[in-house]
Parts: sequence; structure tokens; C-alpha cells
Amino acid sequence: MTHLDEQARAILRQNDKGGYTLPTHGLYPYQWNWDSAFAAWGFATFDVARAWDELDTLMASQWDNGMVPHIIFHQPDPGYFPGPDVWQTGQTPETSGISQPPITAIMARLIFEIDERTGRARLEALYPKLVKWHRWWQEMRCTHGPVAIIHPWESGRDNCPDWDIGMAGVDGSAVGPYERRDLGHVHADMRPTKEDYDRYIAIVEFGRSVGWDDTKIVQDGPFLMADPGITFMLLRAHDDLAVLGRALGEDVSEIESWATTLRSALPLIWNDALNAFDARNLRDGAFANILGSGAFLAYLAGAGNPQLEAQLLRAWNAVNYGVPSADPEVDLFNPRKYWRGPTWPVVNALIAIGLNADGHIDLAERLRSETAALIRKHGFYEYFDPVDTTPCGGKDFTWTAAIWLTWARHEPQENAAKGAA
Ligand code: DGY
Repeated sequence: MTHLDEQARAILRQNDKGGYTLPTHGLYPYQWNWDSAFAAWGFATFDVARAWDELDTLMASQWDNGMVPHIIFHQPDPGYFPGPDVWQTGQTPETSGISQPPITAIMARLIFEIDERTGRARLEALYPKLVKWHRWWQEMRCTHGPVAIIHPWESGRDNCPDWDIGMAGVDGSAVGPYERRDLGHVHADMRPTKEDYDRYIAIVEFGRSVGWDDTKIVQDGPFLMADPGITFMLLRAHDDLAVLGRALGEDVSEIESWATTLRSALPLIWNDALNAFDARNLRDGAFANILGSGAFLAYLAGAGNPQLEAQLLRAWNAVNYGVPSADPEVDLFNPRKYWRGPTWPVVNALIAIGLNADGHIDLAERLRSETAALIRKHGFYEYFDPVDTTPCGGKDFTWTAAIWLTWARHEPQENAAKGAA
């Protein structure tokens, strides 16, 4: 085991609050949905039982309607805004009122396949909850075909340019005074703007005003956009959930039908003018007309094609390290601002899983080695400047440590030997 491996394990242990893992101390003091799923994958490299515990704790906060919230506020912490007093969802433990990328089934399959014998009982307990969550996505978020998000935070790619056209229609001017806490942890240059936050809170206030009723929010809420990223992650998660269901001897025909329906909606998020998958404002049908990293998650769902590959290579070759979160050849690209340009190890790992499955072994290896170089140079930061490698956001980050242990550290010969992602 190398020094970096030891450091990565130590970060997972330090951020472990007993059954759930903080993304990082300070900036994110609660349990976040997709962070937790990545954490589980990381734990599985040295403590499989702890990996299942992480997924159990996440799914234990599932709402009665099937939704699994994006934040679970296990213990009060004044260091985060907006906390449970702003969301007011009335859940126990308190939670936010939106979801986050549904990658849990993807990670559950990877973890199950490490040790199927002992994993079986853990999977049996988790499986019905995962089915219920996937049903919620289909019924509540796929009403327009592809996956719709009702808040940029639901995408996990909070302030990426994909959402600019939808956010332009959100009126944040009536939001009362509030104090952001993120800026006490990370420089403002790397975080969303005040205008973004006013609008984020205005959308939360709308959800609160209708008692977090999904039908009302989808119908009348201030923001509704089709998200290519979640669409592809959910497609892959449906397929993986069906594999898990078959392993348990379950009837997976409902899951298969969701996957077929969702796949048939992909033409609705293909933008011919961009030659790529693209986000879309579902209030007026307009495309975002911006190439974002969510489009490249198409590979994860077996939906890559030659035009998309050309766009991937164009954007990627315009930087030096990793796939950028926004197109480096457009003016709004900002290499250090959160999801408006930086490269994210977790997204790189998901894209690489897809590239490998699609036979693009060399591209997947290039992505792994560039991501590994960033971590080797600077450690386990939340995200990185893809041009000059500057580490950005929170440090000692759980998901970057997890991605190191599961993927970035593995040289190609080792991957071939293990059949790893
Ligand atoms: C934040 O607070 O920045 C989170 O990303 C919201 O989920």
C-alpha cells in the first residue's frame, strides 16, 4: 500500500460519522446522497461491510413517496446554509426536499460483485428501496421524457452553465437576507455567485410553499430542466438494478420497461446544432446550447456516438488534465469556478467506466492517468483547474479519496488483471 492509499483510507475514516460519511469537514457537514454512494465504493476496497452500512444509512432516509433526499441533516451544524430550518420538509431525521444523481444502484452492483456471498443479505434489504426510488424518478421526474430536475442542486452539478437559461427565469429578488456559510470555507472565486444563491433559495421557498408536493413543483415550479447527466446515470442505474434483481431471483420486468422508456426519450436531449446531448428548458423547450460534462455520461449508458466523441475530444484536448465540466472554448468557461470549468475526479471516473464499456480503452486510460496526476500532485481536493492543475474547493474530500482507491490508483496492467472499470 502506498502513502497515498493510506491517506485516502484515512480521509474516509476521518470523515466517517458512524454509518455515514461527510463529503468533507466544514464545507459539507452532513450526509450528501451521491457523495455517500461514492464513499461506499471507496470503503468497499478495504471494508465491504462498512460500504453496505453507508448505503443502508442513505436509503434509511427515503421518503414515503420513494424520494431519497440530497442532504440528510443527521446532527445540527450551524456551519452550513441552507439548513433544515430553510428546507422545512418535516422528515425525521430532517432532510432537504430534492434528490441527487441516482448512482446508488451502480455502486451497489460494484460492491455486490466484490463478495456476492456476504453481500446477498445486504442487497436483499436494500433492493426494494432502490426499486421504489427508481420508480419515483420515473413517475415524478420523467414526466417529459428525459429526467427533469426541479433545482440545479438536484443535478449534483450545481452551477454548471447547462442551467443558465432556466435560472434566468427564476426571480430571486424577493428572497430575504441570509448568510452563506460556504464562503467561510472556500474562496468566493470557486463558488456560485450571490445571484445564483438568491435563485437557489427562491426555488427552495417555492417547494416549501407547496409542502414539497412533486406534482405541483413539476407543474408550476420556477425551474424545470432536462438533465442529460442524470438521464444517463439513471439509465445505467436501471440496468445495474435489473442485474442485481436477477441475481436475487426477482422479476425485473418493471425496471426493464423503465429503461426502455427512458432510452426512447434520448432524442429529445440531442441538440443537432451542438452535435451533442444538451440540457433543455422544459418550460419552453429551448436547448441550453452548451457542452457540459453531463453529456459525456452518455458512455455510462451505452449511448455514445461518433459526433459526441468528436465533441469530447475537442473539449478535452483544449485543456491539460481531465474532462472539463464546461466547454473550454466558450467565453463563460472558468477553470476554477465549481461546475463552470473545473475537472471533477468523480465525473471522470464515471465517464471512464462508460468509455471502457464502449471499447475506448485508450481514452479511459488517458482519463485515469490525468486524474491520478492531479491527485498525486495536490492530494484529495474536491475539484481541479484542468488547465494548470490548481486544486480547488474542499480538501481531504471523501469522494476524491474513494475515486483514488477504486479507480485512479490502478495502472492499466492491474486493471486488465482485475477486470476493473
Ligand atoms: C452546496 O451546498 O453547495 C451543495 O452542493 C448543495 O447540494
